[in-house]
Amino acid sequence: MTKSPKHFLDLDIMSGADLRRIIDVSKAVKAKNFPDGNAKPFADKKLAMIFEKPSTRTRVSFEIGMKALGGEVVVLERESSQLGRGETVADTARVLSRYVDCIMVRTTKESKLMELAEYATVPVINGLTDRTHPCQLMADVMTFEEHLGPIQGKRITWSGDGNNMATSWIHAAVRFDFELNIACPANLAPPRDVINWAHENGGKVKISDNPQEAAKGAHCIVTDTWVSMGDADTFDRTEQLRRFQVDEKLMKLADPKAIFMHCLPAHRGDEMTAAVIDGPQSVVWDEAENRLHAQQGILYWCLGLL
Ligand code: CP
Ligand code: NVA
Repeated sequence: MTKSPKHFLDLDIMSGADLRRIIDVSKAVKAKNFPDGNAKPFADKKLAMIFEKPSTRTRVSFEIGMKALGGEVVVLERESSQLGRGETVADTARVLSRYVDCIMVRTTKESKLMELAEYATVPVINGLTDRTHPCQLMADVMTFEEHLGPIQGKRITWSGDGNNMATSWIHAAVRFDFELNIACPANLAPPRDVINWAHENGGKVKISDNPQEAAKGAHCIVTDTWVSMGDADTFDRTEQLRRFQVDEKLMKLADPKAIFMHCLPAHRGDEMTAAVIDGPQSVVWDEAENRLHAQQGILYWCLGLL
């Protein structure tokens, strides 16, 4: 029987040990401590990236990260590929698997990611769906640990929309064993099944609609756009989210050493004030940089180099 590829689809279906190995190698490669002293571990390896939604960080960090370690990249966008004319995801997966060693996809529905993974004979990486964004969380955990040490046992507060990033934070809270307080409007909460999964797996995840309560004693406050790609930008939505804005008053309720994180792109005056994202507690540029190193760690794992 052929071995199934090492997909990186979501944190909830990965083991905590594998995720920790990925973080460790990401940190090591950032410090130029290459496993086995090999600075070009991806030589002769090829990555295809499919984008059905826009991207700046994910696209550039995967491309630069792959090439820096000796690999090659090809990018497909929905509209300029046959996907845009109705070629199936399954056929695309079968074909790409004959050309490349790994496929990263940014798409809408999770079902498309799963179809790609089912039919690809090479590893598939989730570069964001409407439901989750696991690659971002690897960079986020890495960034937290660079600033404040091991994330295990620490308290993270999410204030804002219960979107794809919030779901991946819930998965991460269980896999990396930290407390997660989510403050969001009740009707914009993360999916019930995700919260149930966290509780069934011993996760210390609390959901409320009280950002002030949630922020108390936090080691990190994190938020994201109020309007994700594919969401309708309605007045009603932004009005509901307004009291979840991360401002300096909210930051003051957190631990004095607390950091502020945001996956970017950011909207000053909406999900956080300019004073917060451009202020001394913000680590968003380190977080963006760490996408590069975290993607390399994920690729090491997917390509069977860990
Ligand atoms: N954070 C993030 O995924 O950014 P992009 O949408 O620019 O890739
Ligand atoms: N929640 C955002 C994340 C962007 C990186 C979105 O899906 O648009």
